[in-house]
Amino acid sequence: MDETALIALALQMRERAYAPYSGYRVGAALLSASGRVFTGCNVENAVYPLGLCAERVAVFKAISEGERTFITIVVATENGGTPCGACRQVLSEFAADLRILLVDARGQVRETSLRALLPEPFGPQDLRSVR
Ligand code: THU
Repeated sequence: MDETALIALALQMRERAYAPYSGYRVGAALLSASGRVFTGCNVENAVYPLGLCAERVAVFKAISEGERTFITIVVATENGGTPCGACRQVLSEFAADLRILLVDARGQVRETSLRALLPEPFGPQDLRSVR
C-alpha cells in the first residue's frame, strides 16, 4: 500500500473511534514489512482507565495475526498529536526503527520516528542481563 493510501486509511479509522468521553478521535494504520496493513482506533470505556489507544489496538491486532516487523505507522488525530508514552513503549518492543507519520484532520502530514520520540527505550535487551 502506498503512503497516500495509508494516510487515507488512518484518517478513515478516526471515524470508527469510540471516544464519547474525551471526544478525541484517533485512527491508526500500521504497515508491516510483508505489506499487510493493520488498522486501529481508540476505544474508550465508562471505566475510564480501561480505554485503549488506536496505536496499541493496531499493533496488538498485528501481533495476534502473526506480524512482528513494521515499517511505518500513520496516526491521525484532530491536531497532529504524537503517540502517548505507553504506545511509544509498546511500539518499540517490535519496531525500534519505526517511521511515524502524524496527520491532522485537514490532512497535514508531519514525519517523525520512534527513535526521535522515544530515545533510549527500555527493551528486551535490558532483561537479558539478569536472566
Ligand atoms: N489516544 C490515542 O488513541 N492515541 C494517542 O496517540 C493519544 C491518545 C486516545 C486515548 C483516549 O481515548 C483519547 O485519545 C484521549 O486521550
